[in-house]
Amino acid sequence: MEIREVAVVGLGTMGAGIAEVFARAGLGVTAIEADAEALRRGLSTLDASLSRAVSRGKLDAREQSEIRARVRLGGGFASAAGVDLAIEVVPERLEIKRQVFAELDRVCSPDAILATNTSSLSVTEIAAGTRHPGRVVGMHFFNPAPVMRLVEVVSTVLSREDVPAIVADLARRLGKTPVQVGDRAGFIANALLLPYLNHAVGLLETGYATAADIDTAATAGIGLPMGPLALLDLIGLDTSLSILEVLYREFGRPRYCPAPLLRRLAAAGRTGRKAGRGVHEYAGARRTGPASAEQNEAGYPAPDTVTLIGAGDEHETALATALASAGMNVTRNAAHPTELVVIVAEASQQVLPAALAAGRPDQAVGLHLLDGLAPGSLAELVRTSLTSDKSMLAAVGLAARLGLAVVRAPDRPGFLVGALLYPHLADAVRMVEDDYATAADIDAAMMLGCGYPQGPFQLLDAAGATDVLVGLRAMYLAYGFPSFAPPPLLAEHAAAGIDFAGVGHRRAGPAGPATAG
Ligand SMILES: NC(=O)c1ccc[n+]([C@@H]2O[C@H](COP(=O)([O-])OP(=O)(O)OC[C@H]3O[C@@H](n4cnc5c(N)ncnc54)[C@H](O)[C@@H]3O)[C@@H](O)[C@H]2O)c1
Repeated sequence: MEIREVAVVGLGTMGAGIAEVFARAGLGVTAIEADAEALRRGLSTLDASLSRAVSRGKLDAREQSEIRARVRLGGGFASAAGVDLAIEVVPERLEIKRQVFAELDRVCSPDAILATNTSSLSVTEIAAGTRHPGRVVGMHFFNPAPVMRLVEVVSTVLSREDVPAIVADLARRLGKTPVQVGDRAGFIANALLLPYLNHAVGLLETGYATAADIDTAATAGIGLPMGPLALLDLIGLDTSLSILEVLYREFGRPRYCPAPLLRRLAAAGRTGRKAGRGVHEYAGARRTGPASAEQNEAGYPAPDTVTLIGAGDEHETALATALASAGMNVTRNAAHPTELVVIVAEASQQVLPAALAAGRPDQAVGLHLLDGLAPGSLAELVRTSLTSDKSMLAAVGLAARLGLAVVRAPDRPGFLVGALLYPHLADAVRMVEDDYATAADIDAAMMLGCGYPQGPFQLLDAAGATDVLVGLRAMYLAYGFPSFAPPPLLAEHAAAGIDFAGVGHRRAGPAGPATAG
């Protein structure tokens, strides 16, 4: 079945972009809105987007008018009678969606496919309210629809077998990458992203790290385009809270339970960029806010004398050389009095025992280098319960002298980067384990829907399954949170020494009810 004619119901934030995507791909689009004013607004959004493309040289005037000519103004639901597919993009409220589906169900031919762009509602519940639930699927675009390449194609236990494949083909014709997923709250991208963002709020709320350090750990430490707290501000704290509530209701896992601080900020109207204040503060698109402690510390001087304690390996030697070249006197003898004791820290090892052994724990700071000593690389400065403020400042000065970016972390398993990353990777592995999606689909979803430069499984393979396993085990032992328990599949990969790339892992085929007889 080839889809040639579509109806888009609701031309708001998402719908106008979706209509544009269809029309650009050569399909005829019937635009249906709640009233004439909303239709006018939706079409002017679409026109503005096409004009921007022309002014940037991505479209010429002839193409613009051809695309525009494919979009017809619908006069109510009756105008969807002849379409091959209708997609609703109305507000995220089940009663509105059901009302729209009842209308589409009435006017569209029984062969037409009905799709919903819902982010978090149950596609099954929407489908169950229609006369032909087999033709109902989710077709979940990401914001902004003309730019983001991911489309999650959501099938339900009621979906006809051929429908998800037809919709996936259509997505490919639109220049998108479809991933097929069952009807579970949050599908792939939101189900994986939101608990990670929630966890970042938890780290902030419990004083584990500052907001700036949490965001820097994600960008400079993991390589993500934005920190989790900045991303929450972009998505909206209220929207994020609603999605987490849906996820928590569905799965009941503690990682989905919204952090109290997230609720408080949303209740206070600090909903993010759109309100000018979220976790951070904004003036337009620019981040502002009071000077942070780390900005005040930026000019702190490096110490003249440093005691270096490490495993005596090449990392320690390289660090000693770098410190000496940067003008610091370095000793390896803990008995020599110096201004700062630097302990070369390993990802999953506590710094405190080495600090105590050095005999001057108040002066001791752990230094964990994420990516060597190249300028701009991230160093985690690890503070034990005994480290003095003065020593932390001296360590900030030392890192600045070496040209390193820094975050401060407590002497806890994973420090800061691992504490953010390992549970996120464990969530991804659990999704594969639960037959939720394949590793390749999860990587595609996070790269194309959330702008990750690398998918979680590529990150995991790069970090090494064994290192992630060791980090998670240490976190689980320290806190006992079930979400830190290493997934058995991760342990298997670590034991076998195999990457996730290219491994299928689907055990039972697509989720669906067992058919009797
Ligand atoms: N905003 C996002 O970033 C985003 C991303 C992915 C998915 N979604 C999903 O897309 C859907 C729409 O979200 P949005 O942000 O575009 O909402 P929106 O409020 O910006 O737009 C909704 C549009 O639907 C119209 N509408 C309302 N009732 C209608 C009716 N009965 N008939 C026809 N039109 C009607 C409204 O006039 C409005 O233009 C939701 O299900 C949402 O979860 C949103």
